[in-house]
Amino acid sequence: MKRLTGSLLPAITLVFLLSLPARADYNHNFTGASKCRVCHMSAKKGDQFGVWKASKHAQAYQVLTTPEAKAVAEKAGQGGKNPAENPACIKCHITGWDAPAAKLGAKYDKTEGVGCESCHGPGEDYSPIKVMKDKALATAAGMTLPKKEDCTKCHNSQSPTYKAFDYDTFFKKIAHDNPETP
Ligand code: HEC
Ligand code: HEC
Ligand code: HEC
Ligand code: HEC
Repeated sequence: MKRLTGSLLPAITLVFLLSLPARADYNHNFTGASKCRVCHMSAKKGDQFGVWKASKHAQAYQVLTTPEAKAVAEKAGQGGKNPAENPACIKCHITGWDAPAAKLGAKYDKTEGVGCESCHGPGEDYSPIKVMKDKALATAAGMTLPKKEDCTKCHNSQSPTYKAFDYDTFFKKIAHDNPETP
């Protein structure tokens, strides 16, 4: 019996850990999109905030409060739970959904849905202008530039409404390049 528990327990623990959704980098605090807006809303530089706000990502929380979401949840065997609070849904619909409260800045707002920091990393430490202007410093402070593999952490068949994901087509719909950077 002793030997059995000894070999089974680590295996069970491992399976449990593997079944948890991937955790984001929580070495830095979330600051919320309103912070990024201050410097990333000028049309001349590509109005990243405006582009994001008009995208579906900014609606990703809101959509979980709709009758449509209720229907999706029921079909996915998640009926009876509030989709806007159910980890099985919010893990792809809310920035920093599983971050400890201590990592959420005063302006963090879960109703932003998939905010800037879902893709660029928790931003409190890289937001100061001196850090932002220096890519190496910003990267060291937690800023990331997402790649296709980061999109497919959410755009995959675990989504109950999954639509085949093609990076180029999808990226065009959310593109927010700064025309002034090379
Ligand atoms: C105080 C102003 C300021 C704030 C606040 C700010 N940024 Fe920036 N950010 C800049 C500047 C300046 C650059 C350099 C490029 C440029 O001139 O636009 C930059 C560059 C970037 C880049 C491109 C990095 C690269 O090297 O390609 C990303 C991504 C970015 N910011 C995301 C964010 C996000 C996300 C937030 C909020 C969490 C944020 N920024 C907050 C000023 C700011
Ligand atoms: C944290 C999870 C997450 C990540 C990461 C993510 N997305 Fe999304 N994306 C969503 C959710 C959730 C929706 C649906 C929101 C809604 O309908 O309200 C969505 C919707 C979209 C849509 C709109 C699709 C439509 O039906 O019109 C596009 C385009 C898109 N994402 C592109 C991307 C690209 C490109 C990346 C990577 C650079 C990316 N997404 C990364 C969660 C994510
Ligand atoms: C693995 C990530 C993921 C999970 C988990 C997830 N979603 Fe989504 N959700 C998405 C993405 C990505 C989209 C954008 C369309 C697509 O590709 O599915 C989306 C879109 C939606 C939409 C908009 C309708 C549409 O067709 O675009 C609703 C409503 C929705 N999800 C509800 C839910 C509910 C309810 C749950 C929990 C039972 C859930 N989602 C779990 C990623 C996810
Ligand atoms: C769904 C993921 C996603 C979200 C949400 C998102 N971005 Fe981005 N962002 C990207 C990708 C992908 C790139 C291109 C990275 C590259 O060029 O390697 C990018 C590039 C940028 C750049 C560099 C532009 C350039 O041409 O130099 C800035 C600045 C930026 N994002 C700011 C923001 C801000 C501010 C927000 C929120 C208002 C935001 N992003 C939301 C995925 C995202």
